[in-house]
Amino acid sequence: MDARLNLLGSAPAVDVKGEIRRLKQERNAVILAHYYQAPEIQDIADFVGDSLDLSRKAAATEADVIAFCGVKFMAEVAKILSPQKTVVLPDLKAGCSLEDSAPPAEFAKFRRAHPDHLALTYINCSAAVKAESDIIVTSSSAERIIAQIPADQKILFAPDKHLGAWLSRRTGREMLLWDGSCIVHERFSVTELLKLKAQYPDAPVLAHPECPAAILDLADYVGATSGILRQASERADPVMLVATEPHIIHQMQKAAPGKLFIGAPGADGNCGCNMCPYMALNTLEKLYLCLRDLTPVVEVPEDVRVAAKASLDRMLAMA
Ligand code: 13P
Ligand code: SF4
Repeated sequence: MDARLNLLGSAPAVDVKGEIRRLKQERNAVILAHYYQAPEIQDIADFVGDSLDLSRKAAATEADVIAFCGVKFMAEVAKILSPQKTVVLPDLKAGCSLEDSAPPAEFAKFRRAHPDHLALTYINCSAAVKAESDIIVTSSSAERIIAQIPADQKILFAPDKHLGAWLSRRTGREMLLWDGSCIVHERFSVTELLKLKAQYPDAPVLAHPECPAAILDLADYVGATSGILRQASERADPVMLVATEPHIIHQMQKAAPGKLFIGAPGADGNCGCNMCPYMALNTLEKLYLCLRDLTPVVEVPEDVRVAAKASLDRMLAMA
């Protein structure tokens, strides 16, 4: 446990939400949160979005401090795009299994082995891997970006093999795929999802493209978190089955209060195992502490930042 958190246990009690609001004004800070964060974090944030929307917000903000409630690679993107801002992350250990599956030195070797390939890289990677890439994509922007790449240009895609395979199917483009995956989206069980479908035969399955193909084959809609959220209000269906990190259901429920959203189960039939353990490291208390102490800060070495910004800028221009 963070030693600083012990302070919260001792009297007088801290009004954590009130303090977050007060410190936000005092610091001229903006709180950005991803849809996979706990509901109380989403509700106190100034903006909740998918990875592309959060990158755009981070690039455009006038605030002096960005308190980023998401995982580390997302906070790094904020720092890369807004280097003059102080970027704080409630818990610096909030990593990502996709980022871990592409160590920078191995990725650089892969690139060098395929010099005629354009490196199209999913935003879920380290700043160092972004610096070695040509164009960054998110799941909401990838198809649009691929459509702008000349048909005869060879492409390599890292680090998510499932998203890469899905993009290949959608665009008809052959891509050399890195062998990485998300531990959260890999846990959905086809058998359990089929059982749930049998229980709710009319309910559409909404899935994130980080899911393996066997899950995507059962989906009625495949898209980024922002797209899945849009389905909540756009579809008339009273019940929908959601195959992505279940905290997004908080926003879906707010967008369509009369409908029922059920998280797709893992192998044990319980959807709890599909929570992202990295996102869960951020708590309201740690958000308060990071706004109070302006630590932990997210830093990116300047040479890496400049190179990574080039590939991110291409994404922002092409998306
Ligand atoms: P989105 O870009 O769809 O928000 O996805 C981010 C992510 O980490 C999914 O696991
Ligand atoms: Fe990374 Fe998966 Fe968590 Fe998204 S859900 S942040 S891809 S570990």
